[in-house]
Amino acid sequence: MLTVLQALESQLHAAMERAFPEAAAEAAAAGRRLDPQLGPATKPEFGDVQANGALPLAKPLQQKPRAIADAIVAQLQQDPAFTALCLEPEIAGPGFINLTIRPERLTAEIAARLGDPRLGVPSVADPSGAAAASAQEPPAPVIVDFSSPNIAKEMHVGHLRSTIIGDSLARVLELRGHPVLRLNHVGDWGTQFGMLITHLKQVAPEALTTADAVDLGDLVAFYRQAKARFDEDEAFQTTSREEVVKLQSGDPVSLRAWGLLCDQSRREFQAIYDRLDIRLSERGESFYNPFLPAVVADLESAGLLVTDDGAGCVFLEGVSGKDGKPLPVIVQKRDGGFNYATTDLAAIRYRFGQSPAGDGARRVIYVTDAGQAAHFAGVFQVARRAGWIPDGARLEHVPFGLVQGEDGKKLKTRAGDTVRLRDLLDEAVERAEADLRRRLEEEGRNEDEAFIQHVATTVGLAAVKYADLSTNRITNYQFSFDRMLALTGNTAPYLLYAVVRIAGIARKGGELDAAASAASSADGLQFSEPQEWTLVRELLKFDAVIAEVEEELLPNRLCSYLFELSQVFNRFYDQVPVLKAPPELRASRLALCRLTADTLRLGLGLLGIPTLERM
Ligand code: ARG
Repeated sequence: MLTVLQALESQLHAAMERAFPEAAAEAAAAGRRLDPQLGPATKPEFGDVQANGALPLAKPLQQKPRAIADAIVAQLQQDPAFTALCLEPEIAGPGFINLTIRPERLTAEIAARLGDPRLGVPSVADPSGAAAASAQEPPAPVIVDFSSPNIAKEMHVGHLRSTIIGDSLARVLELRGHPVLRLNHVGDWGTQFGMLITHLKQVAPEALTTADAVDLGDLVAFYRQAKARFDEDEAFQTTSREEVVKLQSGDPVSLRAWGLLCDQSRREFQAIYDRLDIRLSERGESFYNPFLPAVVADLESAGLLVTDDGAGCVFLEGVSGKDGKPLPVIVQKRDGGFNYATTDLAAIRYRFGQSPAGDGARRVIYVTDAGQAAHFAGVFQVARRAGWIPDGARLEHVPFGLVQGEDGKKLKTRAGDTVRLRDLLDEAVERAEADLRRRLEEEGRNEDEAFIQHVATTVGLAAVKYADLSTNRITNYQFSFDRMLALTGNTAPYLLYAVVRIAGIARKGGELDAAASAASSADGLQFSEPQEWTLVRELLKFDAVIAEVEEELLPNRLCSYLFELSQVFNRFYDQVPVLKAPPELRASRLALCRLTADTLRLGLGLLGIPTLERM
């Protein structure tokens, strides 16, 4: 429907210009254009689209908005492209123009979707697509920096959120045809390794020379001990600092030890990624080590670098501390060392830089908790002032809130420890399995063990992902197994069940594929019931929803849409006969079922959730 809406927008705009040439000229002189203000109709009886553009013209034109709307409509009716697209417009209230798309156009749109694996979503990589019309060059990469846990520390629920949200955004961008670099900016560099290596040399030297000598659990414990010593013991601090210098200057023994520690953590992270079907390219902080001096040099020559109390700083514009003085981003510490911000600056410089020493990206997206918002705002500002961000390129922080327990406090185990991701996923699957066994028992169904395991795993993991993605990411979100596994409400099981229901129609003799291909010419489709039209209109919103997620980076919009679609479908299927429909209507209704299933499958796939045929 996106193309239909775009056509409508330009038809309305042209009609406004024809109706009010002086106002159009005036707007153009001011660098504006007359805006038809299109939006979805607020009620089904108002049609499909509402244009509110007459209202703001009332004052400058000194006319009643209804009269303005009349004049626009009169012009619209002269446009054959418009009359082929819409029924006669209606003017409502003070001067809203209500537009109803011709049913045959909606039917034609449905027919086009039936054979289209992209379900109408245009690709920027497609040279025939309007979006790529401007350039023959391949689209520039989009970078999604997500997950990004820290070596020698456990991956926590915050990283899980980043992983799930980042993966979903990457999938949406990939569907839109962007080459996406999914980067795992793991914390694999810096002072923590000095402490850890120094400590391990004394207490578990084998960990530094032999693979698999310790597991991540041990490593995390060693890390805690090392941190405690570092905070207390000055001699230990000095040795740790020396150790970092050794590592950063490429000492082979230190590098080998560091490599082993990273491998150990990496294996554990990978186990989580495999379980959740997440693809990521690791490019940790260490990757940018060779570029750190150039960052400082660039800032220096841009005249941004200020030495403050021995540290290299860039003072931020418009951001001040409690004392009213501008806050700095520290890029080089007093001891000459670099930090998290320096690395992020190097990363920005590299990501927008041109190959071979750069990714040539046009859009870079960071998915982390909202607690890092100030860090990114600062770093982005410095990068902009340093001139590293090309014109028109986008640099975006995608923040999310905290994961809380049902008590509204930070998520903890009963014993008060932080929750390990592995345990959390295990519990989701176990609970899904218990629910499933209970349901099978109630329904008197007998299923084999392989089926039970497959369904429980799919539902359990889907529930965790969906619960996270379906809330507006900015707000904190309360983790509740009971809520996320419920079969009703805006949950993964509810959506998965809608897909299963449609698969069931096929099993009961509804040949969905045959119906879809028979009906895929617009002549083959016939809709009459209001529930059918509601479903048609809902199905056709998919491409616009994808465009919105691509723009605003809010996966919960896609979730709300899929939930609404499932509800509209269920109402249709409960109220309108499908398998028992009269022969001339059956294929059209089966085709709607098929398209609903395809839309749910593609949509859930974009959330990283595979669907089931039975559950
Ligand atoms: N490792 C960081 C953390 O655990 C997240 C890194 C996010 N990405 C970045 N480019 N700073 O909080």
